[in-house]
Amino acid sequence: MTTEAPGGSDEALRADALAGLTARPKTMPPKWCYDEHGSRLFERITRLPEYYLTRAETEILAARAPRIAADTAARSLIELGSGSSAKSRLLIDAMTALDAYVPVDVDPAVLRAAAAALRRDRPGLTVQPVVGDFQDRLRLDRFARPRLVAFLGSTVGNLLPDERVRFLNRIGDAFEPGDALLLGVDLVKDPATLIAAYDDAEGVTAAFNRNLLAVLNRRLGADFDPRDFAHTAVWDPGRERIEMRLRAHRALTVKLPALGLAIHFDEGEDLLTETSAKFRRESLEPELAAAGLRPRRWWTDAAGRFALSLTVKAG
Ligand code: SAH
Ligand code: TRP
Repeated sequence: MTTEAPGGSDEALRADALAGLTARPKTMPPKWCYDEHGSRLFERITRLPEYYLTRAETEILAARAPRIAADTAARSLIELGSGSSAKSRLLIDAMTALDAYVPVDVDPAVLRAAAAALRRDRPGLTVQPVVGDFQDRLRLDRFARPRLVAFLGSTVGNLLPDERVRFLNRIGDAFEPGDALLLGVDLVKDPATLIAAYDDAEGVTAAFNRNLLAVLNRRLGADFDPRDFAHTAVWDPGRERIEMRLRAHRALTVKLPALGLAIHFDEGEDLLTETSAKFRRESLEPELAAAGLRPRRWWTDAAGRFALSLTVKAG
């Protein structure tokens, strides 16, 4: 939790690029998509007509924030992958016992802007931003109990299944009795709706996906030409997840001087940039329970597209 470069240090980026780009299929961890430009593109995604997730989650938060505040009586709100913190304001305004809001994000720029806006609009609130990776160890001991950890936007779906299990266990282990987790998850639904949410007509999601190549060019001196790659969003019905890929239009070789590597792509070969798992209550709640998090509430939007789960550490 020390670095100020978006996503992490150059050293960490080099290690991830070396492992990911020499793997088969080629892959990159999603967090590197979020530099200053990437975070701005993501904010545009949240307003796209096809991207129903943010509106559905906002609808649930607006209706349930007072209940969440009453159920948890939380004094600290720690939000993982907080981005602009736009939805968090619904929670903050309902949480009458709140002492401190702790937004955690890998992009220092989005965090700075969110913290400044909140301090301006909510002068009584202590805002303690943390630049860091939510997959690292979670240190909660310095925050007043009881704590509410919020993980919204279905970002938990961007973890692979084994990463998700480790992540939930780490939260369950860091919690003390009375601490609570508020998890926003997108639900399994018809593939056409899902695919449109990740392949919008305006091409904002495509630009977000290709921004990863710009990050590799800028920080590792790579020579990707983003025009050589097509954005694709594919629904995997077996794993119930969307996969975002960048597909090479032609055979090509990219140089990565920082790694002393040249990487070959065949025509049609994919770089897997992000997966977005979709959830069902009957499989998610047992996963949470296995991490020591007892299901307390489950709310969906009126259309049943998205869910908020509230779980508490068993005493
Ligand atoms: N919570 C917001 C933003 C979701 S986008 C919303 O619901 O709209 C995902 C956010 O998580 C981005 O702001 C990104 O910078 C951050 N992020 C992605 N991977 C991360 C990681 N490994 N650790 C911390 N933050 C991460
Ligand atoms: N958590 C978001 C989701 O899975 C992240 C996201 C939305 C995303 N659109 C994207 C990630 C496009 C990569 C590309 O919905």
